[in-house]
Amino acid sequence: MQKNNTVIISDKRNSSLANKISLDLDAQYRNAELRVFPDGESKIRLDNVAKRNCIIVHSTYPPTDQHLMQLFMIIYKCRGDGANDICVVSPYLAYTRQDKVFVDGEIVSINLVGRILESLGTTKLITIDSHSPNSLNYSFKTVDLTAIPSLASYVKKNITLNNPIVISPDEGGIERARKFAGIIDVNMLSLVKTRDRFTGDISISLSEQKTLKKRDALIVDDMISTGNSIIKATEILKKNNIGDVFVICTHALLVDDAKEKLFKAGVKEVISTNSIPNDFAKVDLGSLISNYFLDQ
Ligand code: R5P
Repeated sequence: MQKNNTVIISDKRNSSLANKISLDLDAQYRNAELRVFPDGESKIRLDNVAKRNCIIVHSTYPPTDQHLMQLFMIIYKCRGDGANDICVVSPYLAYTRQDKVFVDGEIVSINLVGRILESLGTTKLITIDSHSPNSLNYSFKTVDLTAIPSLASYVKKNITLNNPIVISPDEGGIERARKFAGIIDVNMLSLVKTRDRFTGDISISLSEQKTLKKRDALIVDDMISTGNSIIKATEILKKNNIGDVFVICTHALLVDDAKEKLFKAGVKEVISTNSIPNDFAKVDLGSLISNYFLDQ
């Protein structure tokens, strides 16, 4: 018999994280049955959640639009049933990189995602290491948790390093990398990344001369998608005679053949969380999310 009125909802894909949270919170777990038709449309079925406080666990990694649509369907069902509260936990929230108009004529996609969540009656959104937490500026409460301390403590416990240095692949990630470096008590260096806003091509360079010879590098980033940022960063580090290259990220999307390309470029190991199922998911986000609720 559960002590509270909270119900944790997820589809099968997100069930391992959702089940852990439901155990920690002593809350009932509810499966949202999802089916994808051959034409790509989704259908959901969820038992009635009238008057319940709903926590929906749903990461929106690729196929991004399909997973977002499924999230919208689950919220819509909860609201239609007359749920009390609808809190969305989306460890990886898509579209946070389009947080401004970079080229005239574009839209701020993350604002659109927020508008839809808002119109469906979402009361709170929890993300983890969102690319742009400040852009989650909606009429409902948003909370961006960070997995950086958990990733740092994994590295501290499990990896032996030679005179390590923490690297941010771009200036936007400096705070994240600095936090990581502070926890494991090593120096940090930021690379400079520039992107051609029309082609998407990136180039990465060293901002300052530092002795990198034979030092092991810990590249810290929020996400790996195509792997191109990490590959370019690794190339420049290797040119400067770096030692082993370890990559630490919260969200390992690893689209297409990113994994193979990373190792081919000389990356020794990738360490990520389980916000997205992948071969390198060494850090479980369950306790981080549960502790947030237990502290409320
Ligand atoms: C961008 O600034 C992000 O922090 C990541 O560095 C980037 O999105 C990773 O994408 P990709 O792996 O495609 O280079």
